[in-house]
Amino acid sequence: MCGIFGYIGPRTDAPKIVLEGLKSLEYRGYDSWGVAVVAHNTIVVKKKTGKIGDATVADMPKSSFALGHTRWATHGGVTDINAHPHLDCTRTIAVVHNGIVENYENLKKQLIAKGHRFISETDTEVIAHLIENHYVSLKRGGLKGVTLIQAVRTAFLLLQGLNAVIVIDTKSRQFIAIRNGSPLVIGFGKNENYLASDPAALLPHTRVVQFLEDGEMAIVEERKITFKNVKTGKGLPIKKQKLNWTVSQSDKGNYPHFMLKEIHEQPEALRDIAKTGATGALRLARAIKKSYGTYMVGCGSASYACLAGSYLFSKIAKRHVNWAIGSEFGYHLNFLTPKSTVIAISQSGETMDILESVKKAKTRGAVIVAIVNVLGSTLYRLADDKVLIGVGPEKAVASTKALTGMIAHLLLLSWALAGDVKKGQAMLAQAALVSEKLLKNKKHFATLVQKLKDVTHIYVIGRGLSYPAALEAAIKIKEISYIHAEGMAAGELKHGPLALVEKGTPCIAFLPNDETYGANLAGAMEMKARGGYIIGISFKPHEVFDYYIPVKDCREATLIPNVIVAQLLAYYLTLERGLDPDMPRNLAKSVTVK
Ligand code: F6R
Repeated sequence: MCGIFGYIGPRTDAPKIVLEGLKSLEYRGYDSWGVAVVAHNTIVVKKKTGKIGDATVADMPKSSFALGHTRWATHGGVTDINAHPHLDCTRTIAVVHNGIVENYENLKKQLIAKGHRFISETDTEVIAHLIENHYVSLKRGGLKGVTLIQAVRTAFLLLQGLNAVIVIDTKSRQFIAIRNGSPLVIGFGKNENYLASDPAALLPHTRVVQFLEDGEMAIVEERKITFKNVKTGKGLPIKKQKLNWTVSQSDKGNYPHFMLKEIHEQPEALRDIAKTGATGALRLARAIKKSYGTYMVGCGSASYACLAGSYLFSKIAKRHVNWAIGSEFGYHLNFLTPKSTVIAISQSGETMDILESVKKAKTRGAVIVAIVNVLGSTLYRLADDKVLIGVGPEKAVASTKALTGMIAHLLLLSWALAGDVKKGQAMLAQAALVSEKLLKNKKHFATLVQKLKDVTHIYVIGRGLSYPAALEAAIKIKEISYIHAEGMAAGELKHGPLALVEKGTPCIAFLPNDETYGANLAGAMEMKARGGYIIGISFKPHEVFDYYIPVKDCREATLIPNVIVAQLLAYYLTLERGLDPDMPRNLAKSVTVK
């Protein structure tokens, strides 16, 4: 979703610092961008549709105070004018915003009636005029002592919806940042300070950060940062944290895309989880044993981790766990009691559907456990207990290492529940080895993508632990290559989808060495009998396969290399179709709206 970056300090190339900051947030997905600088008592704005690419801000005045934004359109089309920052009538106040002002139409009508002139179709511009209304107009009307901070607070309290807002003006030389719902993080530098919508963007500058909580406001100056409660205006303590990520983790290195880099980081990340994940797994296992009803909740790929978790818990730990996707979890709430444990799984820790689920579960007294990648994220802070996925920043929109990291933690947790966490560690180490070998030998994909690059549909089947693999393969293929792919439990084929299989229809079948092998094979055969082109992903070849990708058996952990095969297939298919795997259309990395 939208990206925000701001710099205040002694350097006079603030516009460039901000543009670089915005570039590092590109992975979140955006359709236009803009930078505002304060120079010689005026605000100069540059706004453009499309990607930043080779754009520069060399034509902007030198300044040591700048604010930028990447927009993912909600209200109003993708135009230069609708891009942020937005100014008030006096052009002395600039605003960037992440979220949706639900009551913007009403507010806009009232402001127009008061004589404010709007130039964009956005909800954000309302905020700039509202602040102007409270600040400039009231002052002009004789109300002395109104500060920008007060005006911003008053205006913000009139907004409905989940919003993060940053305001600058020509006089105050400070960012006023308020958060309610959408993420914002403040970066502490030496005689310079930063703010961003994502901690990864701060890494080249500082690792000392403070995440704003809902209802908090930060006043960020060059040498001072203060925090306030938005409602009461009272000061709040500073609660700095140190990020445990490195700068190199957040750039592409020698890889052409973040996605490929992140795919290749998986063996190392898995080894790391095998080494260090046991303590967290044992702690969570103790909590789960005490609870009466365990629920796993995630969105998109993370929801497939939850589904995988339900099979792992059943197979390894002989325990029942319920799972739901974030946006549906609210309808299961009636089952929750203070004895329930909700395991919320998320890479970003900012996915709105997850946060909403967790907040609702909290109102019913349930214990919240987070399996989350971003330290200090909203989910991290909301949870009663947490396990960090620990795979480093994930930047490609399509989740790769975070998903296999989630599965790895759930595997360890299942073995911890079964009383043999060491076995889980050994299994993970083996999965890392198998994955590493797989990544060294990608010859399977060159011919296959030639075969698949122009197809309209791909079907993917699996059973048991390969069912989440099938769903994951389908989401990866569709989200980056734009080929329609449908993942399903193989047993469901004959209940409908088989009707669509005809001569040449590509069908991917996961056939690991487990109890599902025979039934999965039957599914592949059903498709083959209707003319399907069968791509078998298995520990051994079979005559039913038209194309075979070998994946060595590593018992329940085979799910991990199976998922990696799906990632590679989606990646190379996307390249073959001339598309950018890191920035799929219409999608954003961190889905901070409902
Ligand atoms: C798919 C993908 C998404 C995310 C989903 C949840 O490749 O990336 O489906 O898995 O948006 O995001 P997090 O894990 O940040 O909650």
